[in-house]
Amino acid sequence: MNLLVLPATRPLRGDVTLPGDKSLSHRAALFAALTHGESRVANFLDAGVTRPLLVALRGLGVPWRWEGNTLTLSGKGWRGLPRPATPPTLDCGHSATTMRLLAGMLAAAGLPAVLDGSPGLRRRPMRRVTHPLRLMGVPIADTDGHAPLTLQARPPTQPLHGLTYTLPVASAQVKTALLLAALAAPQPTTLTEPGPSRDHTERLFQAMGLPLTQPAPHTVRLTPPLPPTLPPLRLTLPGDISSAAFLLTAGLLVPGSRLTLRRVLLNPTRTGFLDALRRMGARLTVTPRGATYHEPYGDITVEHTPDLHGITVRGDLVVRMVDEFPAFAVLAAAARGETRVQDAAELRHKESDRIAAIVTRLRALGVDASAQADGFRIRGGRGWHGQVLDAAGDHRIAMAFAVAGLAAQSPLTVRGAEIIDQSFPTFAATLRALGAAVETTGEAQP
Ligand code: S3P
Repeated sequence: MNLLVLPATRPLRGDVTLPGDKSLSHRAALFAALTHGESRVANFLDAGVTRPLLVALRGLGVPWRWEGNTLTLSGKGWRGLPRPATPPTLDCGHSATTMRLLAGMLAAAGLPAVLDGSPGLRRRPMRRVTHPLRLMGVPIADTDGHAPLTLQARPPTQPLHGLTYTLPVASAQVKTALLLAALAAPQPTTLTEPGPSRDHTERLFQAMGLPLTQPAPHTVRLTPPLPPTLPPLRLTLPGDISSAAFLLTAGLLVPGSRLTLRRVLLNPTRTGFLDALRRMGARLTVTPRGATYHEPYGDITVEHTPDLHGITVRGDLVVRMVDEFPAFAVLAAAARGETRVQDAAELRHKESDRIAAIVTRLRALGVDASAQADGFRIRGGRGWHGQVLDAAGDHRIAMAFAVAGLAAQSPLTVRGAEIIDQSFPTFAATLRALGAAVETTGEAQP
C-alpha cells in the first residue's frame, strides 16, 4: 500500500484524541494478566504491535475481549497460568516489546515457550535480555543473539535468583523483562541504567502495590516479599506521545495550522521531543490535566512556526525522545541552520537502522544530511521536492516522511505504508480530518 501525500494548500486545524500509548498498552495487558480478577483498560491501542501480545496471552490461557476500545482481561496471577503439554510458539510479529516483555513474564511463571517473529524482529538484538535473564537462573536460549528465543519449563518449587545488574544500554524493555522475572526471586533485584529510559513499569508496579523503589538516579529495586495477589487494573490510557509527534510536526510545518491534542501522555521520561521542540523555537503550549496510575497526561497545542532553528541533541535527551527521531529529523530539515544528533547509536537497532533510513530519505528529497556512527547532521531550511520513498518496514519512518510530504513542493509517495498500522492505524484518517490531502493507493504488500 502507498500513501500519496499532496503538499498542504490549507492550514491543519482541529482537536485530536489519540489512541492509547503503545508502551502503556503493552504493559497494561501484560500486567493485567498478572493480577487476580477482571481488568478494564479503556483507550487500549488496537494495532499491529499489540495484537500479537493479545493473541499470545490468549494462547497462554488469559482470556480477554474488546468492548469498543476497552480491553477487558481476566487475570489469574503469574502462578495461575496453566502449564502447556507442549511449549507453544508465540508469534511476536514485528514487536520487540512483545518479545522482551513476554520473555520476562514467562520467566516468572516458569513456562516453556518459543518466542519468534517477523524477519525484521529476528534482526533485533536479544542477547541484551537473554544474558541477564540467564544470570537470574532463567532457562532461556537465543539464536546467535536473536530470535527465536526458547524458554524451558522451570519447576514451580525452583525460584529464580535476585540480580544486581547494570544494563549496558538504557532500555525500558530489558528493564521490564528483568523486573517481571524478579517477581519469582526471593532476593531483591537492583537494576541500573546508563540513562533515563521510560519508567512506565516502575509507575505501574508502584500503583499496583508492588515493593519497587528508586534508590538512586536511573536505578530501580524490587524488594520481596510481594503481596500475595495484585489488584486488577481500571484505567483509561492517555494518548501516545510518540504518535502525537507526527501530528505536532505537521502542525508546526504547515502554514496557518493550529492543532490541539487532548489527553496525551506527559510522563517526563517520554517528553524529550517536547523539550527539543521548545529549544527549536516551536510555538507549543502544554496544559497538564491529571494523572492515572501515576502517569501524567494533558493537552498539547501547536501552531505553525516558520522560524524554527537547528539544535544539538545528545545525552539523556536522546533517551527521552528515542522513538521521535524520524519526526524530529523532518522538522530539522525545515529548521534554519544545523541540527546535530549525538549519542544515538541505539537508533541503529530500532525497526530499521533509523540513522541510515532518515539520512538516505532526506538526501533523496535534496536535503543536506549526513550520518555518523552515533547520530546524524542536517542543514535545514531550504525546502524539498516530493519523491517516492520506501517505508523501510518501519512505521515511524513511514509517518515521518508522509508528514514531510505535507511540507514538500510537489507530491510525495510513501511505499509500504501499511506498516503504519503497527502503531497508529488511524494516522491517515486523522491527517485527513485535520484538512490534509492524503490518499491510499495500491494493495498491501503480503
Ligand atoms: C519501549 C522501549 C523503547 C522504545 C520502544 C518501546 C517500551 O525501546 O524504543 O518503542 O515499551 O519499553 P528500548 O527498550 O529498546 O529502549
